[in-house]
Amino acid sequence: MKDWNPSSWIDKEIKQQPVYPDIEKLKEVEDTISKFPPLVFAGEVRNLKQDLKEATEGKAFLLQGGDCAESFAEFSADNIRDTFKVILQMAVVLTFSGGCPVVKVGRMAGQFAKPRSSDFEEKDGIKLPSYRGDIINDITFTKEGRTPDPKRMIRAYNQSVATHNLLRAFARGGLADLHEIHRWNLGFVKDNRLDSRYKVLTDKITESLAFMNACGINSENTPNIKQTVVYTSHEALLLNYEKALTRKDSTSGDWYDCSAHMLWIGDRTRDVNGAHVEFLRGVKNPIGVKAGPTMSTTELIKLTDILNPENEAGRLNVIVRMGAEEIGKYLPKLIKAIEREGKKVLWSIDPMHGNTIKTSNNYKTRPFNNILKEVERFFEIHKAEGTYAGGVHLEMTGQNVTECIGGAREITEETLCSRYNTHCDPRLNADQALEMAFLIADMLKKARA
Ligand code: PEP
Ligand code: CO
Repeated sequence: MKDWNPSSWIDKEIKQQPVYPDIEKLKEVEDTISKFPPLVFAGEVRNLKQDLKEATEGKAFLLQGGDCAESFAEFSADNIRDTFKVILQMAVVLTFSGGCPVVKVGRMAGQFAKPRSSDFEEKDGIKLPSYRGDIINDITFTKEGRTPDPKRMIRAYNQSVATHNLLRAFARGGLADLHEIHRWNLGFVKDNRLDSRYKVLTDKITESLAFMNACGINSENTPNIKQTVVYTSHEALLLNYEKALTRKDSTSGDWYDCSAHMLWIGDRTRDVNGAHVEFLRGVKNPIGVKAGPTMSTTELIKLTDILNPENEAGRLNVIVRMGAEEIGKYLPKLIKAIEREGKKVLWSIDPMHGNTIKTSNNYKTRPFNNILKEVERFFEIHKAEGTYAGGVHLEMTGQNVTECIGGAREITEETLCSRYNTHCDPRLNADQALEMAFLIADMLKKARA
């Protein structure tokens, strides 16, 4: 990699960054973190790239999901376990009903920094910096709370370490055993249609496991039955943090951003000449790029040239987030350009960020039906273009929150306020996420038939 080092982005224009009042303190924190152990290892990152190559080639499907913003306040073992369980549930639905291996990637263990539409927030005549995520400042609307504090990076690092540790334990320590599949269900309302659909599926899997066991295939000789891999990812927004966790792999001599397995660039920071693209071009991790309605074909091709010069399958994931109404207008021309240029990209759909609305009582929400509609359109467009709809990227939680309206339990504008807990954007709750998985599994099955 020519003319690149973990700090080469510093000379580029950078968007969406905090203004730290104390630069000396920032340097001290960067220095401290750069001596901390990595959160992930190069070998694991290479495994993910291989899995994403399969997804790029239509042989697997990417399921990426988790909080919009992780927070210090919502950090607990139960929260991590429940998000992990929903990811497993969704993956099993997609694998079994969709007939396709699923690559599981959490928006977890580092998803703290948030881009904002405005640098400042004004309330009752007082103007303060916007909340940019717990890794940067506090959501409390006070001068002290909103002042960016570099020490928060150390707390975010520690929380990410503990989260990675628990995810690894859950993945290997029994919770992910397919024999436990009935226990993954978080269904908050018993005896609903969703519960019975899940039960039918788990009964079939349990039956198949018994049959396989009779044939001599069991967890002892086939470890995949009792363990899994859940990779981690976040938006690489706060480059001071990312830089401090970027390490040279001793075996290959390549640079890896060891803060997560996969990193993505947000729709607001994907400027081809900007700092974020400069930073991510130099690390070997799989990279995502969000593509909203303003992404042009020229920009997308340039991004693939810069971020994936070797045209390696598994390196680049274009995460489409255009909105149910807009996707039909913008996505086909992007796909055509990528096909024309022979670029290898994994297409996935983020049906959350283009479908955010404000209710009359001033809640940011997302209608379940619009989320579903954008995913459906995504599959239809790929079918028409002869390309592969390779994944889904969701904001979701294992908690019983009321943040998105609709779904089988019919959350309404009126009931939104009862458990509206998100630190940033509205998430699907566990029931809504599972329902979405069943609906996507039907699309996947049809697409692969
Ligand atoms: C996000 O994923 O939380 C996000 C801010 O997305 P986007 O960059 O697509 O707006
Ligand atoms: Co979000």
